[in-house]
Amino acid sequence: MDITIMGLGGAVSRISFGRLAGIAELVDPARTVLVTDRLIRRIHGSSFPPCPVVEVARGEAAKSLASLEALYGAFMENGLARDGLVLAVGGGAVSDLAGFAASTWLRGVGFGFAPTTLLAMVDASVGGKNGVDFRGTKNLVGTFSQPGFVRIDVELLSTLPDLEFASGMGEVVKHAVIAGGAYYELVESAAAGAKGADTLERLVAGSVEIKAGVVGRDERESGERRKLNLGHTVGHAIESATGLPHGHCVGSGLATACRLALRRGTLGAADCDRITRLIERCGLPTSIAAAAALAGKADGAGFRALLGASLPADKKRLGSDLLMALPSAIGSVAIEAVPLSDLQSFVMEAP
Ligand SMILES: NC(=O)c1ccc[n+]([C@@H]2O[C@H](COP(=O)([O-])OP(=O)(O)OC[C@H]3O[C@@H](n4cnc5c(N)ncnc54)[C@H](O)[C@@H]3O)[C@@H](O)[C@H]2O)c1
Repeated sequence: MDITIMGLGGAVSRISFGRLAGIAELVDPARTVLVTDRLIRRIHGSSFPPCPVVEVARGEAAKSLASLEALYGAFMENGLARDGLVLAVGGGAVSDLAGFAASTWLRGVGFGFAPTTLLAMVDASVGGKNGVDFRGTKNLVGTFSQPGFVRIDVELLSTLPDLEFASGMGEVVKHAVIAGGAYYELVESAAAGAKGADTLERLVAGSVEIKAGVVGRDERESGERRKLNLGHTVGHAIESATGLPHGHCVGSGLATACRLALRRGTLGAADCDRITRLIERCGLPTSIAAAAALAGKADGAGFRALLGASLPADKKRLGSDLLMALPSAIGSVAIEAVPLSDLQSFVMEAP
């Protein structure tokens, strides 16, 4: 199955499914520099095409100016020219860094992604956002630039630790709530049972199509793309207070958004319960308290105040309101202006 994403200025990104070893047919090794981390190279390096390989730090540490500078240095040493290609093989941290480096090297060279985590397959590789962190703030420096191609090999997920897999499911559940219908039911049945390669491919392809559809209609996040922030307003606050994996924070942020929508009378109790059950079945925390417990933090007034204090920094702030994606049903998400003070009070008392 192939999925095409149209970006700004006619830019096109093609997403295909197949084994990583088959990526050799998409790249010219003589003009390619492959970016990965040491662990992924050790586990999956035998499937890499025969081109220079640059290792970057594992996880979020890759998204630093120091890593960027080292990567530019490797591009220079390998003579990466205008007609060259950067191939990122890794999770979202590797692809965010490599995509940013490629889209700024020589004012932009081509790049492609072979995501190795569920989160990178369903989220980070789709949408054209690249970047690095700056002085402790995530993704402060970056570009909107679509990869030329994304090659997804779901077999790579067999080596992913359970915690990282569950984190990816946070974004999958978010996409399922946005789309509803058959995709929501697929995610429910996948969460309940064994996940063979065929189920995984349908799970990933469905998520990619949902995100690609939204991004294709609003690449620069001026309207519909805001729906993709579902679960992220409170989720980001939980992430900075706990350091839990992104999808775990999105899971508890999504459950909290559902409870807020229930309180505001815009979401029914049955849908709120059904979404919360799905989050739980994916192995994710379903409340702020559960996220705090998972992170080993005391869930007292101080912890809740810390969450509330980080909400004003949300990029979706509009004066004294936050523009928040809230579900109104499974398959329907609205962007609502929620007074910051209301949200801060809710965060103090929510489960
Ligand atoms: N650009 C976007 O739109 C976007 C969207 C979502 C997230 N992100 C970014 O993605 C990053 C998180 O990415 P992530 O969750 O993919 O994790 P990650 O890239 O931080 O990787 C996590 C760990 O998993 C290991 N790993 C990766 N693939 C593996 C495999 N197949 N088997 C065994 N181990 C493997 C890595 O070595 C690393 O240690 C964050 O920096 C986040 O900001 C970007």
